[in-house]
Amino acid sequence: MHILLAEEYDIGLNCNDHSIRESADSEYVSFWEGEARKLEWFSPWSRALEWNLPFARWFKDGMINASYNALDVHQKSKSAKPAILWEGEDGSSRRITYGQLLEMVGQFAGVLASLGVKKGDRVAIYLPMVPELPVAMLACARIGAVHTVIFSGFSAASVRSRIVDSGSRVLVTADGGYRRGKIIPLKEIADEAVSHLDVTCVVLERTNQKIHMNPRDRLWSELVASPLDAVPLESSHPLFILYTSGTTGTPKGVLHGTGGYLTHVHSTFRWAFDIRDSDVYFCTADIGWITGHSYVVYAPLLCGATQVMYEGAPDYPDASRICQILQKYGITIFYTTPTAIRMLAKSGSPDTFDLSSLRLLGTVGEPINPSVWRWYYEHVGKKRCPIVDTWWQTETGGMMISALPGIETIPLKPGSATHYIPGIDIAIVDEEGRSVPPHTRGHLVVKRPWPGMLLTLWGDDSRYKEAYWSRYPGCYYSGDYAMCDDDKYVWLLGRADDVLKVAGHRIGTAEIEGSLVSHPQVAESAVCAIPDNLKGQAIAAFVVLKEGADCRRDLAETVRRDVGSIAVPKIICVVPRLPKTRSGKILRRILKAIACGEEIGDTSTLEDPGAVSDVSVAFARCQVD
Ligand code: WTA
Repeated sequence: MHILLAEEYDIGLNCNDHSIRESADSEYVSFWEGEARKLEWFSPWSRALEWNLPFARWFKDGMINASYNALDVHQKSKSAKPAILWEGEDGSSRRITYGQLLEMVGQFAGVLASLGVKKGDRVAIYLPMVPELPVAMLACARIGAVHTVIFSGFSAASVRSRIVDSGSRVLVTADGGYRRGKIIPLKEIADEAVSHLDVTCVVLERTNQKIHMNPRDRLWSELVASPLDAVPLESSHPLFILYTSGTTGTPKGVLHGTGGYLTHVHSTFRWAFDIRDSDVYFCTADIGWITGHSYVVYAPLLCGATQVMYEGAPDYPDASRICQILQKYGITIFYTTPTAIRMLAKSGSPDTFDLSSLRLLGTVGEPINPSVWRWYYEHVGKKRCPIVDTWWQTETGGMMISALPGIETIPLKPGSATHYIPGIDIAIVDEEGRSVPPHTRGHLVVKRPWPGMLLTLWGDDSRYKEAYWSRYPGCYYSGDYAMCDDDKYVWLLGRADDVLKVAGHRIGTAEIEGSLVSHPQVAESAVCAIPDNLKGQAIAAFVVLKEGADCRRDLAETVRRDVGSIAVPKIICVVPRLPKTRSGKILRRILKAIACGEEIGDTSTLEDPGAVSDVSVAFARCQVD
């Protein structure tokens, strides 16, 4: 790995408060207590942290409500301030103030209650990027229901498994959603997902296309109820479940609590983005993923910020769409993914728009390579705007490693996420758990609890322990490779496990393999990531068929149906056999080397070394096809 020398990008914007790091490092629990006090609590906690490894309960017995902190607290000074400036894919717009948002949320909380939703019940939400999505989430939070948002690109089978696993009895969906000028038939997909389940569907009219209404369905517009106040909830009361991919075929239901999670996202948002009252913030993440939960819905609203929310595809009607939005709304803070930045670079559009309102840029979701970082700095930020490269995960709830222009000045290095955030203790260790020296790749672990950490995996404490806390005793295992340099800057080096990041979306190889082998003609399959110029990674699938007939097109359709279109492999390569060890384990490392054109390495453990040339020939033929 090539490391760049430090370059002086002065990122301190309003202060240089070293005392924050000092107090955070010496007494992290009381440090986070101080941060928690910046939110409104109905009653104080009795204990700041109860730590029964690996279960943390932050701000125990403190009573709080997420929707109250996102909305009610702003009503005195900000009820007329826009909370959401919504841009439809078709160019239409909506402006929703903090006052209006509170009304919508209170009302929908009443609707949920009238449908029988009570504190602790799960509510599944399968909506496009429209303001009613945060409204539905905050309405759940208002009454203590637990939302589980399902990305609108997921298939009926994925929606169904999440509804069943979470035990949701209510599904909030829409008649459709716009994507690249077409309508995604969300209602049809939802119907298939809930068939024969005891689920009530609330259907938002977004497209007004004709839909079939079943007895279980209720139209959003026809449901009226008196608004409800926010109920006080114990700090660890679950706020949401968000399913994410791991190393097995079954997605993990990451469960987050309330008080700790809100504290974490509230503080990190202020530190990383140095948010001010006059800012117009724009994060391109879909709310169906964690970035959308933490830094589109909760953090900006907790801070009383104004943000732009965009409904559609970033490249529709063409690749300049994001720049049009930046210019139209005078965006000051822009937070996006390396994939979106590469797309902007390819289009060249930033050079033809007025982006002078920008003052701070952010990136998240995948490693950003130094040349892309530089392009972002020069062409989007015009060498004026610092870039915060923020590393974190669905499980961590909020940022863990990032430059923090809101509190300190440091030089930036293109491609490094810089340092861990105050109060977080991170280490990079070898297979035995020993800290590795600078410039050596190791596993990124977290050494003590942090407020945004997941409570557990929904309904599966033992998988929670096994997946995150068993590899290195006492430490949280992130699944990422990293290294640090002589200045203690952290460089993220991608996943160490079978999790892929395609265009920033998290997908497990096992989910795709499970879908492929469900096809009657497939005997075996193995999936790996290959580098992709635009999406960072793309998916390559190797399949052994039971009979000779080529069913590749069918297979793409199978994955689309089982998981969703984001998981469809770019390359499906039919091979006569897969490289395996004598004990029958598929050596994905060899497939990856072949697919990436890298050195194959040691093949001595292979049962049949001839498999390597078979796969190489098949893969080369596949490239020609
Ligand atoms: C990757 C997204 C490098 C990482 C917030 C992590 C990153 C996974 C960065 C979590 C970054 C996230 N630099 N890699 N700044 N941010 N990642 O759960 O591999 O969708 O483990 O959360 O994304 O993905 P998730």
